[in-house]
Amino acid sequence: MKIWIALLLATFAVGVSAQDQCICDSFKWATCDGPPCQCSVTVGTGEKQNLDCSKLIPKCFLMKAEMFRARHGLSTRTGGKPVDTAFVDNDGIYDPDCDATGAFRAKQCNNTEVCWCVNSAGVRRTDKGDKSLRCEKLVETYWVRLELKHKAVNNAVDAAKLQDAVATAIQNRYSFDKTLVKEVQYDPKARLIVVDVQKEKGDRKADLSRMAYYMEKDVKVLPLFKDQAKFEPSVDGQKLEMENILVYYVDEEAPTFTMKRLTGGVIAVIVVVMLAVAAGLLVLFLKRRREQRYSKAEPRELEAM
Ligand SMILES: *[C@@H]1O[C@H](CO)[C@@H](O)[C@H](O)[C@H]1NC(C)=O
Repeated sequence: MKIWIALLLATFAVGVSAQDQCICDSFKWATCDGPPCQCSVTVGTGEKQNLDCSKLIPKCFLMKAEMFRARHGLSTRTGGKPVDTAFVDNDGIYDPDCDATGAFRAKQCNNTEVCWCVNSAGVRRTDKGDKSLRCEKLVETYWVRLELKHKAVNNAVDAAKLQDAVATAIQNRYSFDKTLVKEVQYDPKARLIVVDVQKEKGDRKADLSRMAYYMEKDVKVLPLFKDQAKFEPSVDGQKLEMENILVYYVDEEAPTFTMKRLTGGVIAVIVVVMLAVAAGLLVLFLKRRREQRYSKAEPRELEAM
C-alpha cells in the first residue's frame, strides 16, 4: 500500500516538474505561461507573437522581436560571392511584416513610406521605392554561403574532416538536415571556412534563413537559444571557435538591384569613349575644313592662271 502511494506521489511529482519545463529552448527572449504551456515574445509595437519553441523560430518573428527590443533600449544585434548574383545583407535589421506562419511578406516598408522587396531570408533584393512598389511574390533563397573565420588553434586542422565536422555541428545545434551542407572549403592561412548550404530549387521545406540567422547570432556571441553554447565544430577532438561570419544569399531568381558598384567603372568607360569620339570628330572636322579651303582655292588658282 505504501509503495502504491509512493508511486502515485512520484508520478504526480514527475507531472509537476514536466509542467515546470514550460520554457523556450529555441529563443531566450520568449516568455512562457501555462498550462497549457504557450510561449510568446513581444514584437513590433508591443503585440504578442505566439511561438512554437520545439523548432527554430522563423527569422521574420526573430527580427520583429529584435526591433521591439531595440526600440525599448534592450540588448540586440549588430569573403567572396559564390555566384555573381549572390548578395549580402547591407541594410541590417528592420521591423518586418510576417505572415501567420512566420514567413516574410514579399514587400517590406519598415513602417515608413520607403519600401523594397525581400527574399525568403528577409534580405532586400530590389532597389528601394515608394509605397506603390510591387513585389509579385516572395522569392526563395535556396543557397547560402557562410564565410566563417575561426580563432587560432594549436594544431593544424585536417581539411578533409572539416566538411563532416561542420555539417554535424550544424545538424546538432540547429536541428538542420546535414545533407544540405554541400561543400566546405578551407583556407588555413586566413583561418577561413566557406560553407555552402544548398537545397533543390523548388524545395519549400528546409528553411535556410533560420539556420543561417541562428548561426550568425551564435558567432556574434549573441545566441538566440536559451543555452549560451557556441557553434563549435570539432575536428580530431579540437574545437573550432568562430570569430567572424559573413552570409551570402543566392535566390531562385536573380535580384534586381541596379549595379551600384559597377557605376563608377561604367561612367569612366563612358567618359573615355565620349572623349575619343569627340577627338575623332574634331580631327575629321579640321581635316574637312582644310580640304574645303584647298578645293575653294584650287579654282581661283586656276582662274588666275
Ligand atoms: C527601420 O527603421 C528603424 C527605426 O524604426 C531604423 O533604425 C532602421 O535602420 C530601419 N531599417 C532599414 C533597413 O531601413
